[in-house]
Amino acid sequence: MASTTQTVLILNGPNLNMLGIRQPEVYGSETLADIEKACLAHATALGLASDFRQSNHEGDLVTWIQEARTAAAGIIINAGAYTHTSVAILDALLAAERPTVEVHLSNIHQRDSFRHHSYVSKAAKGMICGFGSHGYILALDALARLIRGV
Ligand code: DQA
Repeated sequence: MASTTQTVLILNGPNLNMLGIRQPEVYGSETLADIEKACLAHATALGLASDFRQSNHEGDLVTWIQEARTAAAGIIINAGAYTHTSVAILDALLAAERPTVEVHLSNIHQRDSFRHHSYVSKAAKGMICGFGSHGYILALDALARLIRGV
């Protein structure tokens, strides 16, 4: 029987398009395009397809999460600053009912106290933070296991 490749939606929120330029001492020197390339290669190695997106607009992220309910097998999300503010993104993730892994490049618990709380975490199976761009690779490994139920 032919099997269809499952797609993982990898979402990036505001200011993540500035990676490489933005506070490299916090976020590293890689660009978002570098991270996209690494995710594509790793997803392929895991037998998954990846759909990698970024928006500075909360509504775009909400719409894409809604679409993931039928279009994706799972979600990886770095919601940037919306992590700490967006009930709309939390509600969309709860409605999507897809296994979700939250990622942050920096260790948000070592930073400003307003970064310690995450609305996304309430809907995520787990969170990976502090490992820079490698966090996305770790998230793909975790999500592959969640999707396959192992
Ligand atoms: C971030 C952490 C957030 O607090 C911040 O607003 C970001 C990036 C991270 O990847 O470390 O934009 O999500």
